[in-house]
Amino acid sequence: MHGRLDGRTALVTGAGGGIGAAVAERLAADGAAVLVTDVDEHAAQVVADQIMAAGGTADALALDVTDAAQASEAVTRAAALGDGILNIVVNNAGIIRPAMIAKLEEPDFRAVLEVHVVGAYTVSRAALPLLATDGTGRIINVTSAAGLVGTIGQANYGAAKAAVVGLTKSLAKELARSAITVNAIAPLAATAMTENIRTHEKLAAQTLARIPLGRWAEPAEIAGSFAFFASDDAAYITGQVLPVDGGTVI
Ligand SMILES: NC(=O)c1ccc[n+]([C@@H]2O[C@H](COP(=O)([O-])OP(=O)(O)OC[C@H]3O[C@@H](n4cnc5c(N)ncnc54)[C@H](O)[C@@H]3O)[C@@H](O)[C@H]2O)c1
Repeated sequence: MHGRLDGRTALVTGAGGGIGAAVAERLAADGAAVLVTDVDEHAAQVVADQIMAAGGTADALALDVTDAAQASEAVTRAAALGDGILNIVVNNAGIIRPAMIAKLEEPDFRAVLEVHVVGAYTVSRAALPLLATDGTGRIINVTSAAGLVGTIGQANYGAAKAAVVGLTKSLAKELARSAITVNAIAPLAATAMTENIRTHEKLAAQTLARIPLGRWAEPAEIAGSFAFFASDDAAYITGQVLPVDGGTVI
């Protein structure tokens, strides 16, 4: 069977569950050899095992994206799944610490910025020496409607996700000379991160009312957009933000 990502290597962060797990599975289904990483090592291993059981190529590794030494080891391990070149980096790891600004304490503000912004910077920087420069190199970041249009009770998360957009655009311009594209996806999906909203009667109804397509996506529905950015079809697209959110950001 031939896949459009045959022969490519990929590293996905925060891939122990939710969108990251679905992306790892999809990239592998399209032929990439995937290093499944997460701060939760066991969760990453379970996903890697599922990929291998489905006939794909995967390995798992503990990676806290804010740790430069771990990031360095992870990119080396991911590249070693192929012939030492890393093709695809997906900066997906994320956390939320929701609170209205008056109750949003500094540690919770900093923690969210640390994982999303410093994490994407750390892993991208570690990956750079190994990233393919033949036109197949990809960095795919994950932003959010929160970073594009703002959300109530998530000033930390909105600030972090807006910063991810700035990081994406700046890296796209910097790395274009190496033919590496850098794009971002703003997803919306039923995951652990959105469980509190989806199970809260009032918030669930309010949120659904803001989704023109009127439903939450399963993570697997989001994953195809990552595979697209990773593919040759997207080789001439860089610095862009693609909402995959049922029309929430229009
Ligand atoms: N679910 C949505 O609707 C939605 C909307 C917009 C953006 N996002 C973004 O999508 C990405 C994935 O979110 P999700 O919904 O799948 O959430 P999730 O909570 O299901 O998964 C996040 C994963 O990141 C991992 N993680 C947390 N901190 C980490 C760290 N320091 N290093 C490495 N891994 C870490 C967690 O262990 C978890 O497996 C996040 O960046 C999130 O902000 C999600």
